[in-house]
Amino acid sequence: MNLGMSGKNILITGAGKGMGREMAISAAREGANIAVHFHTSKDKALETVGILRDIGVAVHPFQADISQIDEIQRMKNEIHAQLGHIDYIVNNAGWAQMKSFFQYEPDEWRKEIDICFYGVLNIIHTFMPDMIKNQAGKFINIIGDSARTGDRKLIMSAAARNGTVSFLKSLAREVGESNIQCNTVSLGMVDQGGLGEDLIHKIRKQYPLKRLGNPEDVTGMVLFLLSEQADWITGQVFSVNGGHSMIG
Ligand SMILES: NC(=O)c1ccc[n+]([C@@H]2O[C@H](COP(=O)([O-])OP(=O)(O)OC[C@H]3O[C@@H](n4cnc5c(N)ncnc54)[C@H](OP(=O)(O)O)[C@@H]3O)[C@@H](O)[C@H]2O)c1
Repeated sequence: MNLGMSGKNILITGAGKGMGREMAISAAREGANIAVHFHTSKDKALETVGILRDIGVAVHPFQADISQIDEIQRMKNEIHAQLGHIDYIVNNAGWAQMKSFFQYEPDEWRKEIDICFYGVLNIIHTFMPDMIKNQAGKFINIIGDSARTGDRKLIMSAAARNGTVSFLKSLAREVGESNIQCNTVSLGMVDQGGLGEDLIHKIRKQYPLKRLGNPEDVTGMVLFLLSEQADWITGQVFSVNGGHSMIG
């Protein structure tokens, strides 16, 4: 199937490592040029850039804290100079603390909201006006299913990301006339190493498909939403989660 992504410039946040890197690799294999965003993982981001260069697409690393709009604006200028106009964005960056609400001091909850909620607004406010001018664009936001089901130990990131779901649905209504699609991919637990066997065994019992996800389980959905096959899909939330939650 031709996904129609060849030659598109795609910004993927948090692409130095983890799932962001896998998304970048799979989009590059479809011929897309990649802006590899990182925050602190410079060495990893340079590794990702090396892998993508070997695939043969245009690629550059870009650093920014997505919670700071001035850093996003600086990054946009750098991307324009190095790669040109960004066609599509996957916001995969995120940050969460695992504790219950009453374990937080008030000054500890701001960071999750700044990254997981305001980060999305900062990126869209900076990059989407050009997509509107271009009358084409796609924005995909990666969240966890905790944002839809609630999770007492992920209460703050879940709340911030639930806000982005509502924000993107409203935005999708506004920018649809400019041929821009805004969708959310909501994940169950993805094993990227580092979880002990005992813990994995305990968690996977809760999954109807009896295993945790792996990055390849996620990249298929992201690629599909970036492709021209998804040009008539907007304002939606797709769970990729081994059946862990089934939200109608
Ligand atoms: N793994 C799972 O089971 C799971 C489940 C549900 C949802 N998710 C979500 O899926 C996404 C990818 O997951 P992952 O496990 O691959 O995560 P990860 O390795 O922790 O990656 C998150 C990325 O976010 C970036 N980031 C953090 N704070 C930032 C900031 N202030 N500004 C810019 N970037 C920032 C980090 O960049 P640097 O490394 O460069 O600092 C990091 O690469 C995340 O949004 C995560 O919350 C993951």
